Amino acid sequence: MGGDALVRCDMEDHVAHVVIQRPQALNALNLQVLTELEQVFGELQDRAPRCVVVRGTGERAFVAGADIGEMEKMTPTEARSFSRRGQILFHNIEEFPAPVIAAIHGYALGGGLELALACDLIVASDDAQLGQPEINLGIIPGFGGTQRLLRRVGPGMARYLVFSGSRISAEAALRIGLVDRVVPAGDLLSVVDTLARELAGKPAFALQQAKAVLRAAEHMDLRSGCEREADAFALTFAHPDSREGLRAFLEKRQAKFA
Ligand code: COA
Repeated sequence: MGGDALVRCDMEDHVAHVVIQRPQALNALNLQVLTELEQVFGELQDRAPRCVVVRGTGERAFVAGADIGEMEKMTPTEARSFSRRGQILFHNIEEFPAPVIAAIHGYALGGGLELALACDLIVASDDAQLGQPEINLGIIPGFGGTQRLLRRVGPGMARYLVFSGSRISAEAALRIGLVDRVVPAGDLLSVVDTLARELAGKPAFALQQAKAVLRAAEHMDLRSGCEREADAFALTFAHPDSREGLRAFLEKRQAKFA
């Protein structure tokens, strides 16, 4: 790979912080960043954090998109492989067992917004600007953006964002459900850290089941989704955390989860 790492992963109190550190290019996703994200999320499978936070370094951006310099040289065949590679990485992030929080500030554009969309929760600082500007480059989103944007904000708003390539503010993104929470810029890291620690303190098995069922809901009809929910509900009853949680309530004491 050569050179300095462009992605760092720090683990603290069962929370993994995945940090993209290529601020001179507004953290654009080049092949090295993609490779390192693949490695980091691969390793995290074994390290089993209870929550993951993804963020970018520098004042100006979460991630300003896929690397335009690299894309400019791609043939259609290479572009397809690049798209599939990013999609598979983002599927792995989406399917990571523990919840993943995107902490976004500044620009979250193109592949950057697609990365955030693959996360479970998006917390944005009030200076964030979000968009899918690919249309202005003569291309379209290729890391799952067309599919996940539609699922998050609905078909009309997804069409508007992808067709127009417009950038929208954090507040506007909150109104359409594109982000889940907006906080003052200076508070982003502490708010996300508090949220991540809160989730890391929950019974991990139940949280994983909740994530899996909520994710499955995006691809299932209501009846099948409810059957899936019943299976997961039953699984939680097979885990010691449910015995402890239910009993602790009845005994009016704090539960001690595994
Ligand atoms: N890929 C590669 N490099 C990028 C990049 C990207 N997606 N986005 C920004 N950069 C680089 C710039 O080339 C510049 O590098 P340089 O200093 O070596 O020239 C550096 O990051 C700073 O960006 P710059 O454009 O000078 O900052 P700005 O304040 O004028 O504009 C943006 C900021 C985000 C509006 C602008 O960089 C932009 O439009 N980026 C591309 C966004 C995009 O289309 N993303 C989707 C790609 S599929």
